[in-house]
Amino acid sequence: MMKRSQSFTSLALLLLCQVSVACAEAVSNCCNALSQEASLAGKVYFPNTSNYRGLVESIWSASAALPPWCFVQPESAEDTAVVIQTLVSNECSFGILSGGHGDFPASNSIKEGVTIDFGRMNQTTYDPVEKIASIGPGSSWQPVYETLEPYGVTVTGGRAGGVGVAGFTTGGGNSFHSTSHGWACDNAKNFQVVLANGTIVDANADEHNDLWQALKGGSGNFGLVTRFDMYVIEFPDPTKPNIWGGIAQYELSAADDLTDAYVDFVENNHLDKNSSTMLYWVYTH
Ligand SMILES: Cc1cc2nc3c(=O)[nH]c(=O)nc-3n(C[C@H](O)[C@H](O)[C@H](O)COP(=O)(O)OP(=O)(O)OC[C@H]3O[C@@H](n4cnc5c(N)ncnc54)[C@H](O)[C@@H]3O)c2cc1C
Ligand SMILES: *[C@@H]1O[C@H](CO)[C@@H](O)[C@H](O)[C@H]1NC(C)=O
Ligand SMILES: *[C@@H]1O[C@H](CO)[C@@H](O)[C@H](O)[C@H]1NC(C)=O
Ligand SMILES: *[C@@H]1O[C@H](CO)[C@@H](O)[C@H](O)[C@H]1NC(C)=O
Ligand SMILES: *[C@@H]1O[C@H](CO)[C@@H](O)[C@H](O)[C@H]1NC(C)=O
Repeated sequence: MMKRSQSFTSLALLLLCQVSVACAEAVSNCCNALSQEASLAGKVYFPNTSNYRGLVESIWSASAALPPWCFVQPESAEDTAVVIQTLVSNECSFGILSGGHGDFPASNSIKEGVTIDFGRMNQTTYDPVEKIASIGPGSSWQPVYETLEPYGVTVTGGRAGGVGVAGFTTGGGNSFHSTSHGWACDNAKNFQVVLANGTIVDANADEHNDLWQALKGGSGNFGLVTRFDMYVIEFPDPTKPNIWGGIAQYELSAADDLTDAYVDFVENNHLDKNSSTMLYWVYTH
């Protein structure tokens, strides 16, 4: 019964938002409530700021770059807890923006609501004793690789350096190293997660095991991940942190042969687990 009346309220809010007075009220409930939180001072951006415009433009796909009522940028798990408690208690719809490489509308930002942007939480640290890399959700992969390289290690991250850590890892994550090391999510020893009620938990093999499993592909549906603790891959020679690769382009007429070659590659991939390939069809200009 409770659930039904709550979803009715959000539906009503959505419909009423076409009417500007009701919409202004929702904006002020959600965004003003966030700005009034002392710990979030200076971290809420309205459309009249350059930070706001910069964040909309940071989204990779124009289809996904929806303009929210405001952005909020938590700086820590504690900030994130305040954000989610405020949004929940005011019944605000929200989007979750990390690397911004989701490419369909509502994959990260939101139009009638607040977009939580993790850009301030972009640090990577490495523990050489435990061999664990701790990565902030707002980082993209390139700075992660650059931070880890001097230690002679890397992680099962994205193939394009601009892709975000959080969307990639919680969505699965197919890496150059996936034949030998599995999906990116398989390499997460621990997720630090902020739950809907603001509680901060660790999800791993021993604690909140169900959440740990659900987040391996669960994307933003189970909580806000505020830190990824990942197993690393050691380079055989730490002074040579190299991978070899390249791109070849063919005419469309080669499609059948390429498909056969790709199937052959995949069937034999176990013979050389260090190798990886991807085949895709594109229009070029
Ligand atoms: C150029 C390009 C190259 C790509 N290459 C690869 C590749 O090699 N392999 C591959 O597997 N995929 C690849 N992708 C797909 C990419 O992994 C997904 O689009 C992924 O969702 C991007 O993550 P993000 O953090 O950048 O995205 P965002 O758009 O910021 O987030 C996407 C979704 O992730 C969830 N999310 C974000 N942050 C959090 C958080 N802190 N806690 C919980 N959930 C969160 C939310 O549900 C959000 O809607 C590529 C995409 C592009 C555009
Ligand atoms: C920007 O918009 C917000 C919310 O509407 C408002 O409180 C603030 O005063 C505005 N700032 C400027 C510089 O106009
Ligand atoms: C983190 O973000 C800040 C602000 O955008 C930027 O200056 C810094 O270079 C980023 N750090 C990393 C490691 O990406
Ligand atoms: C928050 O939610 C979790 C999961 O439902 C629950 O275990 C925990 O007790 C809740 N915490 C508070 C303070 O309500
Ligand atoms: C794959 O790389 C590992 C080191 O990471 C090495 O030990 C192994 O010999 C390589 N396999 C092949 C088939 O080259």
